[in-house]
Amino acid sequence: MPAPDTSAFGPAFLWGAATSAYQIEGAVAEDGRSPSIWDTFCRVPGAVAGGDTGDVATDSYRRWREDIELMRLLGLTTYRFSLAWPRILPDGTGAVNRAGLDHYDRFVDGLLEAGIRPNATLYHWDLPQALQDRGGWPARETAEAFAEYAAIVGARLGDRVTDWATLNEPLCSAWIGHLEGKMAPGLTDLTAAVRASFHLHLGHGLAAQALRAAAPGAIRVGITNNLSPIEPASDTEADLAAARRADGHINRWWLDPIFGLGYPEDMLALYGVELPAQDQDLKTIAQPLDWLGVNYYFRQIVADDPGNPVPGFRQLPGPGPKTAMPWEVHAPGLEQLLLRVTHEYGARDLMVTENGAAYEDVPGSDGRVDDVDRAAYLEQHVAACARAAAAGAPVSAFYYWSLLDNFEWAYGYAKRFGLVHVDYATQRRTIKTSGHRYAQIIRAHARR
Ligand code: IFM
Repeated sequence: MPAPDTSAFGPAFLWGAATSAYQIEGAVAEDGRSPSIWDTFCRVPGAVAGGDTGDVATDSYRRWREDIELMRLLGLTTYRFSLAWPRILPDGTGAVNRAGLDHYDRFVDGLLEAGIRPNATLYHWDLPQALQDRGGWPARETAEAFAEYAAIVGARLGDRVTDWATLNEPLCSAWIGHLEGKMAPGLTDLTAAVRASFHLHLGHGLAAQALRAAAPGAIRVGITNNLSPIEPASDTEADLAAARRADGHINRWWLDPIFGLGYPEDMLALYGVELPAQDQDLKTIAQPLDWLGVNYYFRQIVADDPGNPVPGFRQLPGPGPKTAMPWEVHAPGLEQLLLRVTHEYGARDLMVTENGAAYEDVPGSDGRVDDVDRAAYLEQHVAACARAAAAGAPVSAFYYWSLLDNFEWAYGYAKRFGLVHVDYATQRRTIKTSGHRYAQIIRAHARR
């Protein structure tokens, strides 16, 4: 089967896969790591499907060499991973745990030896519980602690890691973790959620400064947002207004401040929560970005629903096929988003830092995992990305989510996103059909 036409990407395009620390590492009490808010949340009865936890996950804290070998077999040229703050600063601030830092040091060297460019995320939701106990993201102290952590890892790894993201999907930390209560720390409090969103942004700005100061000139700082194109369910006034609110809640709230536009006035009025902003904070938040990370999974078709909490909309299922989540497969949404951030926000370098799908993968009697749906999903989204590039979006990288099946947060291990199947009983890894297809796409691009 011919690979999608990727000629619009250019020869330096990076092909990767992504993971995050809590979802794959396991070893939660190893080498001085302290508990994170996810260790705590997983113990709340009913919070995570099946009572699953990240205690073992894919055991990648120990099996990282095997994981790098898989990346090599797939032909990845980059790998996106996150560092676990509780491994490095078990109390959130103060004493550094050398064993935690040493682990990432070895891992980065391993990637570089395999010719794979590291892309490190500082925060993918595993806040040290010690910081949560002192107020968590609703408190300014957490943003300041984040900058301290950024300076420490920047000083240790900044000589070898060029690409850094401060935050992964702060929307999920703030809205899902503090407003909807479906992720750690499990709050349902609008004021806490808005304050958390502000301090996440402030933490991003402070951490960007700290990283740049730690390795002057060597570091490219970005941030990763999960964005969705929004469509009104009908052209009634009510649905059009709901779509505008949904766009504010999901997209503009997360993009405007980091691009120096401040917080959207309509959303400030809607939330009715005063931002805990001090003098220079908005400027700090709007640090120049070397790249913007876009995570795309689905579009949102929304209808007005005043019965739902702020911002009062409900999402309707789209007409397309669904993944196991069940999220609608709609590749044109990725193209649309990439062009929007290019034209509306002037993003100069875009990385698709996550895109992927969960399906019910069942290994055949021969052990093969023939996930043709995921392979098709991948092709469609790579093609959408290439169309955006051809239309002028400066896309420089694509990271499939995820390298491996792993701990899918509140869904536990029930949802599999990997290019590589993991048998959780044995930790045996098997490259799926989608992984082989990705390798072909990468090879075909290199030959162009
Ligand atoms: O698994 C998550 C990841 O941690 C963040 N982005 C979405 C993925 C799939 O839900």
